[in-house]
Amino acid sequence: MASELTSSASEAPSPASSGPVVVFDQVSIHFDVKPVLQDVSFAVEHGETRIILGPAGGGKSVLMKLANGLIKPDGGRIRIFGQDITDMPERELFKLRAHIGMVFQESALFDSLSVEDNVAYRLHEEHIPEAEAHIRVVEALKFVELEQAIQKFPSELSGGMRRRVSIARAIISRPDLILYDSPTGGLDPITSTTIIELVMKQRDVGHTTSLLITHRLQDAFTLAMNRFNPDTGKMEPIPNKGVDEKTKFLVLNDGRVVFDGTTLELVTSTDPWLRDYLS
Ligand SMILES: Nc1ncnc2c1ncn2[C@@H]1O[C@H](COP(=O)(O)OP(=O)(O)OP(=O)(O)O)[C@@H](O)[C@H]1O
Ligand SMILES: [Mg+2]
Repeated sequence: MASELTSSASEAPSPASSGPVVVFDQVSIHFDVKPVLQDVSFAVEHGETRIILGPAGGGKSVLMKLANGLIKPDGGRIRIFGQDITDMPERELFKLRAHIGMVFQESALFDSLSVEDNVAYRLHEEHIPEAEAHIRVVEALKFVELEQAIQKFPSELSGGMRRRVSIARAIISRPDLILYDSPTGGLDPITSTTIIELVMKQRDVGHTTSLLITHRLQDAFTLAMNRFNPDTGKMEPIPNKGVDEKTKFLVLNDGRVVFDGTTLELVTSTDPWLRDYLS
């Protein structure tokens, strides 16, 4: 059942449950001479879904790689699960990443591996016994409604199906934090909505903290203004034009934070650049 995917059962010790899950404190990074992020500060609370918006090249993917410890900042500090990862050695980062699920910008599946082996990849790395791994793969594929594709190879799947596999792979380790980099990028509007519905299910059933980059404002507002109904298995509008209290926004432009706040604050902002960007 989907609900069984919600608790952390990784081999690695459980991360601290109090305090923010992600903290960026005046983080800066540049490649060559070009500053990519400058003095970026924000915090993501437990159970929060933080939607990251902004023009192409604004540093969104770089921010996500920093959050996963894949790259190091030139300045500032980054804390994940209350642990300072800024100078953390790779060995400890590896353990920490067992608690983080990542959906990459381009699905990033292994073409030579079946759907089952792609989804089980992390479990194989953790030497989980094959029989248990299989049960968990089926469970994760059920969550993304793709259990019939278990024997297929990535080349046999549509773009939307590949994205579902990539979400199944991210949730298989029952992560405490999920990083979604443009999970709907390159998909048509209808398929995008089915992916957003899965993200919402993980938010509302799994209560998993997440960062989500999207280029599609419609996806962002769908997430902010709907909720997952476990009885119907579908999303539905939050009554009285309400918004999800756990979903917040961060907008980056040219490497700087230009907005950090709630949905209501975003749509009522009078900042000329934001108004133009959102229109
Ligand atoms: N490894 C790298 N080496 C050099 N430059 C890089 C590297 N990674 C990112 N950059 C540069 O950093 C800037 C921000 O890139 P990033 O991928 O974070 O943008 P983005 O906001 O995710 O854009 P998009 O919306 O197109 O995905 C870009 O100018 C990019 O060329
Ligand atoms: Mg990107």
